[in-house]
Amino acid sequence: MQGLIQEKRAFAEEDSADDLVDVFSVGAAIKIESHEICEYESLIDKACEMKHTKVAQVLSQSLKEEKARLKKMEAFAKKVKPKEMMSEDRGPRNLSSAKFSQRKRAA
Ligand SMILES: [Fe+2]
Repeated sequence: MQGLIQEKRAFAEEDSADDLVDVFSVGAAIKIESHEICEYESLIDKACEMKHTKVAQVLSQSLKEEKARLKKMEAFAKKVKPKEMMSEDRGPRNLSSAKFSQRKRAA
């Protein structure tokens, strides 16, 4: 989680194009939801092992909500695309794209 926050701050400092910030933010949301799903699944397993049925039921409801949010974020990610992906011949914007590519390779 801390790593995502640091990445976001670094990304914001680079004065990136809004469309790239959107792509980054949706990707970060997907990572967070995926992490939360893993956490809930682990907690549900523990609750079941300890025979805490009511706790497992409550956690299962939260897990269901997290899965729904992940699905929404994944659908949103398909709609949010950097403008550079649409065209290769766009002067200064290509610099942002190059920075974004370097960052992705470094991660
Ligand atoms: Fe969540």
